[in-house]
Formats: sequence, structure tokens, C-alpha cells
Amino acid sequence: MIRKCLFPAAGYGTRFLPATKAMPKEMLPIVNKPLIQYAVEEARDAGLQHMALVTGRGKRALEDHFDISYELEHQIRGTEKEKFLAGTRELIETCIFSYTRQVEMKGLGHAILSGRPLIGDEPFAVSLADDLCLNLKGDGVLSQMIQLYKRYRCSIVAIQEVPRDQTHKYGVIAGELIADNVYRVSSMVEKPAPEDAPSNLAIIGRYILTPDIFDLIADTQPGKGGEIQITDALMKQAQNGCVLAYKFDGLRFDCGGAEGYLDATNFCYEHLYLKGL
Ligand code: UTP
Repeated sequence: MIRKCLFPAAGYGTRFLPATKAMPKEMLPIVNKPLIQYAVEEARDAGLQHMALVTGRGKRALEDHFDISYELEHQIRGTEKEKFLAGTRELIETCIFSYTRQVEMKGLGHAILSGRPLIGDEPFAVSLADDLCLNLKGDGVLSQMIQLYKRYRCSIVAIQEVPRDQTHKYGVIAGELIADNVYRVSSMVEKPAPEDAPSNLAIIGRYILTPDIFDLIADTQPGKGGEIQITDALMKQAQNGCVLAYKFDGLRFDCGGAEGYLDATNFCYEHLYLKGL
């Protein structure tokens, strides 16, 4: 069964400079909680206990966030401020965190390969924390994907319909609909121009991967932008066997850019923060 979630969090976050000059993008707060904590909570709610973070230079704050801060906790003990740390504390107590560094930022595929020592030879989830996924009406996105994995036992990518003029920002799939919201992937193109896109079904930052993906990434040459793309390795997996794409229930905010970040902040303020959730 799936026990581990890998969080590639080594990217430079250039779209958010200068905020991300000395601070990881994944620590940007949506109201009062950093993006990485939303992602870890989603993984925990999906039953995953091992949180494996791929970090890089200047990302120490991620490790500090999931650690005890004795002075601070001593300072606020017994005051009503203690409740603000309760959620983080619970994650620290119930999950296992491990870290590795991606030494050179050679793309998402390379970041996932860097996480291999933390994952080993078992299927695992991947979550990109700058894609904030929320489902207020039911199970979170990773939870939905794990249920699907139990049925099909192969790699799964989360997809979303995007406007045609946005396809150049995503990996885009072509596939055959095999069940409600589930496609068998026949092809994938990384960041296609609208006229080259095989569909408007875009891959977003949630994956379930079977461990053979690691060797496939290791054999993948740098693609678009000189980066090792996960879509290239997934394409080989789709040719050898099976990769599914799943149109999930819920909302997704691209918090790697200002517009999505603002939308997420407004949404979370109204639907979570004001309700004390
Ligand atoms: P992005 O494409 O959003 O890149 O990466 P980025 O560097 O974080 O941000 P911009 O585009 O410069 O603003 C998608 C995810 O893959 C991770 C990022 O941390 C992010 O979660 N990533 C990307 C790595 O971990 N390593 C890489 O070499 C590249």
C-alpha cells in the first residue's frame, strides 16, 4: 500500500521573487498557514504517514517548520496562542519527516529521482505544495487518487481542464476515457502551444507513481528548458504499461504565481480561516 508522499520543494520560485530570494516558496502563507503544511495535511488525511521532502539551498525553514521550537512553545504555553501551533504539533507527532537535497535544480523529474533514497522500492505519492488542492465537500485529491490506485495499481496523474490558451503552462495528456473521470493516457506533451496541445486536460501537482519510474527518469535526457521532465518518464511508462489520468473533485490554486496565490488566500480566508478551520 502507499505509505509515503514525496514533496519536491527545491525549485527557485522565480515567479515569486523577491519574496522567494531567501525563503522557500512552499513557506509562503495562505492566510496564516504555509503552503507546505496544507500539502502535508492533505497527505496525512489520505492515510500517508511518511513525508519525504526534497529541498535545496536556502530551504532550511521547511525543516524548522516541522520541528519543535522549544523557546517559542515555552513562551506561549498556557496562553490562548497555544492553539495556533496545535495543528503543526499534531503533524510533527503523527508523521515521520525525512529530507534530502537536490544539489542542482535540473527539473521536477530530477527532483523526484533525488528523492529515491527516501522512497525505496514502493509506490508513492508526489505532491507539489505550490498547487494548493482543496475539496471542502469530501475526500482530498490525494485520498481520491489512492482509492483509484487500489483499483488499478498503476501510476496516476491528477488532471484539470484548462482554457486552451493556458496549455503552454502544463503537461497535457491525450487519452481514452475508461471510467468516470478516469483516462488511460496514450500521450503527453510538455507545455504545448494551444495548436499543438492534444487536449485541454492539464497535469497538476499530484501524482501516484510506481517505483519503476525511478529507472525511467534516470534514463531520461533533459527535455524542454534543459530540465529532466517527469512527463517524459511517464510517457515511457504509459507506452510500457499503464498510466491513468484522473479528473479530481475539488479546487486547485496555482500558488506559484500571484493570481492563483491571491485567489487561494481569499478563498481560504472566507471558507477556512473565518470558520476557525
Ligand atoms: P516550478 O515549475 O513551479 O518551478 O516547479 P519553480 O522553480 O518552483 O518556480 P518558478 O517557475 O521559477 O517560479 C514545480 C515544482 O517542482 C519543484 C518546485 O519546487 C515545485 O514544487 N522543483 C522544480 C524542484 O523541486 N526541483 C527543480 O529542479 C524544479
